[in-house]
Amino acid sequence: MASFSIHGDIIWTESPDSFRYIEGGYLNIEDGLVESVSSESTSCDILETDGSLVIPGLSDLHLHAPQYPYAGLYMDEELLEWLEHHTFPEEAKYRSLEYAEKAYSILVDDLKHSATTRVSVFGTIFTDSTLLLMRKLSDSGLSGYVGKVNMDRNSPDYLSEETVASISETLRFLESAPECSIKPIITPRFVPSCSDELLRALGGIAEERGLPIQTHLDENPSEIEWVKELCPWAGSYADAYDQFGLLNSRSIMAHTVWPDDGEIELLRKRGAFVAHAPSSNTNLSSGIAPIRRFIDEGIHVGLATDVAGGSSLSLFRMMQDAIGASKLRWRYVDSALRPLRFPEAFYLASKGGGAFFGSVGSFEKGWDADAVVIDDSICRTALRDELSVPERLELYAYRHPDESVKAKFVQGRRVL
Ligand code: GUN
Ligand code: FE
Repeated sequence: MASFSIHGDIIWTESPDSFRYIEGGYLNIEDGLVESVSSESTSCDILETDGSLVIPGLSDLHLHAPQYPYAGLYMDEELLEWLEHHTFPEEAKYRSLEYAEKAYSILVDDLKHSATTRVSVFGTIFTDSTLLLMRKLSDSGLSGYVGKVNMDRNSPDYLSEETVASISETLRFLESAPECSIKPIITPRFVPSCSDELLRALGGIAEERGLPIQTHLDENPSEIEWVKELCPWAGSYADAYDQFGLLNSRSIMAHTVWPDDGEIELLRKRGAFVAHAPSSNTNLSSGIAPIRRFIDEGIHVGLATDVAGGSSLSLFRMMQDAIGASKLRWRYVDSALRPLRFPEAFYLASKGGGAFFGSVGSFEKGWDADAVVIDDSICRTALRDELSVPERLELYAYRHPDESVKAKFVQGRRVL
């Protein structure tokens, strides 16, 4: 792959507390990797961006592709009722490849025009429509993971599998997964939807084949009580996953709003990732996750839209909501947990979540060249000439107009 440079106002975070940036600089890219950020170009192939912001690609650590059609609707119930009344009936429609084609095309097109370059996505229990989703996401140039969802208990007849069939369909999914930028991930929906036998088998498959895992943890108080009844032998919800071999450094635990001290310690020891979904946690009245504590204790954290618990695909919106939620937690719950600041929220959406996918989300030498060019002049303000590059990024993140992603690169390949 040839080398090239992107000329613009380049900004990124290497550590959570501060930005690195260079106004009118060059992001030099070679063979899909970051070569340098400098005031000089190292290539004669230069993309001029006319003073746009150039940021690392953002990572969405958790979203439900089949739920996008109703993103922005039905926010008046808590998790378990919402799943039964809205989520399960919608997901059942993906038995039809024709519906999947129609619905997934819209999602993938919207993701393509966003600042997101990496995703970890739930499909449905239906193998073939999940394979279709993988191909579509890969064709759009995005990179990441898609999982066929497993559900063999406490699920409606129209969206449930026999245990043996759930396992064999998972194996068929793994065998049929296309060779492309979107890889398979083991995806038990959550403990209430999966029998012990199924969870044990999935943990075994993940270990044998070295596969990553995604699921939900500690999202809602009624869900947690239910898990206690379903797994009386487990020390905690997180311990149940751990005993089935589903909690390790390749696992994403979505939400984790209500962890106890033991679970926090277990997450840290196992090196698992928490997908923080602040919009969803508000919309479904789930609560406020202790993100400052996770960061302080060295737990990996990234941001997630959790569409359709979240109504927006924008990780800028998630930055704003993560900061807002942390302020409410600080004010109402725990004054020892300082609110997040903007550089920290940006870090979570870029390098924090990007770590799940490798060296992703920063402009350090040798890192994957995921880059997004943003025309922030669309945010009209009389202050424009007075703003620093970090202030322009902050203003953009709070206003995040959709139509301003001008170009996008994943591992150095232009996808938009
Ligand atoms: N827990 C189990 N399934 C789901 C889901 O689809 N969305 C959310 N937010 N939580 C879940
Ligand atoms: Fe979710």
